[in-house]
Amino acid sequence: MAQPQAATKTKYDVSIIRPEVRAEQFHLRGEGYPPARLAAIRKGLRTLHTLELMAQTIYRFQITREPSDLNCQLITAMCNEMGHYQDFQIKLYEYGFRPSILRAAYWGVGFAFGFGSRLLGTKAMLKTGIWVESKAVHHYAQLLETIEWDDETRRVIEKDQADEDGHVARWKRLLEAAAPVPAKA
Ligand SMILES: [Fe+2]
Ligand SMILES: [Fe+2]
Repeated sequence: MAQPQAATKTKYDVSIIRPEVRAEQFHLRGEGYPPARLAAIRKGLRTLHTLELMAQTIYRFQITREPSDLNCQLITAMCNEMGHYQDFQIKLYEYGFRPSILRAAYWGVGFAFGFGSRLLGTKAMLKTGIWVESKAVHHYAQLLETIEWDDETRRVIEKDQADEDGHVARWKRLLEAAAPVPAKA
């Protein structure tokens, strides 16, 4: 069964940006699984892999050369998403699947969101991050609930979901700091 989201938030340390992966943690997966279970896992992994390409591309194109705290946070988030992208690429190949060729289109979407929001300024960047990451948390929850994952893959997905939730919280904090709520006249 899927972990409730509140449990996911406390169970994983989101200050670990790139968790260690040891040689013995790689396995070939899926042997003996019914075709319907495999098909669901393949669809889920391809979706996650594709979305993580979009996420890392958004942050990549939001980063500027300015030596600011925001840029440091964006680089941290980009690294986090690069790790997620690796996570799902590894799982795809462990299952004998291949990534979706359609993911190139999501690179384009990530570029549009990332570069577009950068042109509009800090608040637009933070709002874009909050919107995309909130969608991601919801999407992750759906995939955790509806797909019968193996335990190790499920833990990876839960950790990555907790990271996305951490991103929402971080961008919300920065947005509040950037835009104090004005007193009503
Ligand atoms: Fe991610
Ligand atoms: Fe994220």
